[in-house]
Amino acid sequence: MSVVAITGASAGIGRAAARMFAERGYDVGLVARGGDGLDAAAAEVRMAGSRAYVVQADVGDAEALDRAAQQIEEELGPIDVWINDAMATVFGPFLELEPDEFRRVTEVTYLGVVNGTRAALRRMVPRDRGVIIQVGSALAYRGIPLQSAYCGAKHAAQGFTDSIRCELLHDESNVRLAEVQMPAVNTPQFRIQRSKLSHQAQPVPPIFQPELAAEAIWHAAHNRRRQIWVGFPTVYTILGNRLAAPLLDAFLGKTGYDSQQVDEPEVPDRPDNLYEPLPGDHGSHGAFDSVAKTTSRQLTLLLSPPVALIAESLDSLGARAGRLLARLTA
Ligand SMILES: NC(=O)c1ccc[n+]([C@@H]2O[C@H](COP(=O)([O-])OP(=O)(O)OC[C@H]3O[C@@H](n4cnc5c(N)ncnc54)[C@H](OP(=O)(O)O)[C@@H]3O)[C@@H](O)[C@H]2O)c1
Repeated sequence: MSVVAITGASAGIGRAAARMFAERGYDVGLVARGGDGLDAAAAEVRMAGSRAYVVQADVGDAEALDRAAQQIEEELGPIDVWINDAMATVFGPFLELEPDEFRRVTEVTYLGVVNGTRAALRRMVPRDRGVIIQVGSALAYRGIPLQSAYCGAKHAAQGFTDSIRCELLHDESNVRLAEVQMPAVNTPQFRIQRSKLSHQAQPVPPIFQPELAAEAIWHAAHNRRRQIWVGFPTVYTILGNRLAAPLLDAFLGKTGYDSQQVDEPEVPDRPDNLYEPLPGDHGSHGAFDSVAKTTSRQLTLLLSPPVALIAESLDSLGARAGRLLARLTA
């Protein structure tokens, strides 16, 4: 039986991934802070016929995450796949965020990835096998208004991942690092994360269901892909930013406030999960089931065997060309 460890496994995309990996034969180490969501996730894993092991840990705490990895290996066996999914954000204009709120988002969304990657590599590198998946975002390449701390952290995680990938290649390691850049996904974050907005937050439409995100994570774990971009919105956001950043600055400056809020007013001072988990099980889906898409033509095409093979070959060709260039310029 293979073993996957997932941070942020109690809700949203991490929860959907936990279910999918369990249904497809993995034992699952579930890491987050909230006991209710973790217990519910563990019940889903067991229902699928796999073993579940729950660790309550804060991803911002490097030692706690390392202990979590150790406990999961003691209980379930060597970790084959480690998924860095946990996140925190504060919705609101930059000047309305307190310095400590900004620090906390960075600690969870960026350093959580750093800490998770370290905990996984410490175990995978000596064995010379394993895959680490970074759950990223189109916003790792393109900052949007009202999410400065989160976008900064996602950019940082992306740059960090490039550095570590180069180090693994330098060491000729067989440990693999892949990123899955997500579009807007219907998860609970828009009701449980901290918000300073006047109206309730929403992911910028079109919105996709978390099972699609989980499918892309599964594919990245089992195919030699460097990155997977999920959905056309991710493709045009990343490419659009490369080609026409000033246009996107102006467009997002005009539309980015309204497109991230629905008509219902935000509940003033509602509890949130920035520093502590919220009680209760928040599940994998958010409030947007009625509009969220269950399929993506782009993802279906990308994961279809011929296209997946071409994409994998292009990644491998790129790596070979890089090695050749290094020899020629040595
Ligand atoms: N939803 C989207 O539109 C979207 C778009 C692009 C990318 N993504 C990426 O997808 C991933 C998951 O997002 P999501 O929307 O599924 O978020 P979510 O619904 O808010 O779930 C976040 C998960 O992270 C856990 N978590 C939060 N703070 C933590 C901490 N300090 N230590 C450990 N666990 C913590 C939460 O559990 P506890 O609170 O119980 O700890 C929960 O399990 C993130 O990396 C995000 O950047 C999401």
